[in-house]
Amino acid sequence: MMRKFLIGGNWKMYKGARETEEFINTLKTSKVDISDIDVFIAPPFTSLPVAIELLSNSNYAVGAQNMFWEEEGAYTGEISPVFLKELGVEWVILGHSERRIYFGETDEGVRKKLKTALRLGLNVVICIGETEKEREEGKAEEIVKREIIEALKGAEVDPERIAFAYEPIWAIGTGKTARPEDAEEMHRIIRGSLGNKGEEVRVIYGGSVKPHNAEELLRQDNIDGALIGGASLDPVSFIEIIEAVRRV
Ligand code: 13P
Repeated sequence: MMRKFLIGGNWKMYKGARETEEFINTLKTSKVDISDIDVFIAPPFTSLPVAIELLSNSNYAVGAQNMFWEEEGAYTGEISPVFLKELGVEWVILGHSERRIYFGETDEGVRKKLKTALRLGLNVVICIGETEKEREEGKAEEIVKREIIEALKGAEVDPERIAFAYEPIWAIGTGKTARPEDAEEMHRIIRGSLGNKGEEVRVIYGGSVKPHNAEELLRQDNIDGALIGGASLDPVSFIEIIEAVRRV
């Protein structure tokens, strides 16, 4: 089963419109071929319009880092997925650990958001992963399986529209990457818990992916791409990681 590589740049709360424009101008000078890879950048909400406009004639897609599960209503401060669609957003990241930790995102919230996103035609990356303590206690497998089951309750696993990002929380922004063989083992477990569509679903890795370690991670059979934080903020390192995909 050939799964197409998926590379996402999760910019978190970095880069307003001006810096987004600078990044994209540099990205567009690169001749790296992404015709057979799915690549998106996920800037903050307010930078989405400029990103979409500047990337409209390219193979790069644009994603959002979050959305609300309702289409409209009295929800001060929330962003509707309908508005994201209207802008031309193609991907949305759901359940990132930073949203779970700092903003009280729950499995139930991820499930509701997933349902709405699929109904509206957005592609989704669902983030899952354990803390360092959970790993030490031997609970990593149990945690990711729970996150998957809870997110998918009542939803079809559509490999065209749903990808999972395994992001061990202890590896995010710490420079501590999971060893490729440990990540591979978790990806295998994740795929195994996705039922009969598991072989087709992309499971990408996130957590201190850098140009120097990307290739080894991406060479693992069950690692289908990367969700990149820090290294996606610099167009040069982002392009280097895409080039690593090309070598695999
Ligand atoms: P870093 O690449 O900065 O560790 O962040 C990973 C991440 O959280 C991607 O969603």
